[in-house]
Amino acid sequence: MTYETQTHIFQLDAQNPDPDIIKAAADVLRVGRLVAFPTETVYGLGANALDAAAVQRVYAAKNRPAYNPLIVHIAAPEQLAQVAINVPPLAHTLATHFWPGPLTMVLPRHPQIPPQISAGRATVAVRLPAHPVAQALILAAGLPVVAPSANLFMRPSATSAQHVLDDLCGHVDVILDGGTTPVGVESTVLDMTNAAPKVLRPGGVTLEMLREVIPDVTLHDSHAVPEVDAPASPGMLLKHYSPNAEMLLLEGDYDAVTARMQQCIAERLAAGQRVGVLVTDEEMALFKALQANLQARPTTLALQSLGSRDDLGQAAQNLFSALRVLDERGMDVIIARQFAPEGLGRALADRLLRAAEGRVLQVTV
Ligand code: TXA
Ligand code: MG
Repeated sequence: MTYETQTHIFQLDAQNPDPDIIKAAADVLRVGRLVAFPTETVYGLGANALDAAAVQRVYAAKNRPAYNPLIVHIAAPEQLAQVAINVPPLAHTLATHFWPGPLTMVLPRHPQIPPQISAGRATVAVRLPAHPVAQALILAAGLPVVAPSANLFMRPSATSAQHVLDDLCGHVDVILDGGTTPVGVESTVLDMTNAAPKVLRPGGVTLEMLREVIPDVTLHDSHAVPEVDAPASPGMLLKHYSPNAEMLLLEGDYDAVTARMQQCIAERLAAGQRVGVLVTDEEMALFKALQANLQARPTTLALQSLGSRDDLGQAAQNLFSALRVLDERGMDVIIARQFAPEGLGRALADRLLRAAEGRVLQVTV
């Protein structure tokens, strides 16, 4: 089943959204229909969290399997009481530190929240986004708003209104275009239902930031995730986003990885494949020479930069859009260097690992 409709797009100033447009979009939410909106992480596909039929439309529009639970978004900490029960004091402490912002907490679900939001679990994932458009929309609607990332199932998350349109045109009623999203990777999902909080999905709030408030926070091991129908957090499926291209992810000593990447690129090109490479600005030169040898077939090697090597924030902003660009250009293989699991690099490494369906080539010196 899919949800079909006519899609309307409205341009908004991300910092000062027009209240009339926000009000109109809030009305669309209130009658049970779907509004895609920017958050500081990625675009969300929003619906009234208290309306089971509207929640059903979200799953249908995304083609998302029913076992994959959704995040509920609120506009003020006081709204948490409408969404979750038995909220532990630590969750309030974390909210003080990280809300508004890219932290999602998994808490016991309030009975008024329809069970299908959480795929039938007794829990609910909640976050208070920092983006002015998201906040204004949720406030104007006067409702908790359920919003998964606004992409089709198995596609990279949407970081621009164009990405939303590419995936969901005809399946979302309104798209609020507030430009590109500043963080670029999704929120950190933190399970608060056990004594020691556990990160289920690394994201915009880093493990280092969490440790300053909760030193005993643990991290769910990506490699330990079984490929079954109901993992701890289904965004943790190892085959979460799969580019159409084969994804070749390399890890190890910097120079050894560079050399192996150059070798792989040359081999794949020789085999007649179209090769996409995720690089940094500084690395462009390392691969340009290979491109210069391709006068006859210049489009068979696409170097896509994630920005400066020293700027993980920029890499996070650019990652999903870079993957989309390489997919659109019809690459047979995408070759990338794995990120070191520190700071935002942990979220980046996690998304690349999933794109590579859990496979990493370890390069030894
Ligand atoms: O940054 C974000 O979190 C974006 C923006 C739109 O807020 N949303 C987002 O939603 O990434 P989605 O649906 O693509 O990812 C939700 C993640 C999934 O990994 C899901 O398994 C997990 O949150 N999740 C949701 N509810 C859960 C629950 N009750 N227990 C465990 N994990 C849950
Ligand atoms: Mg998603």
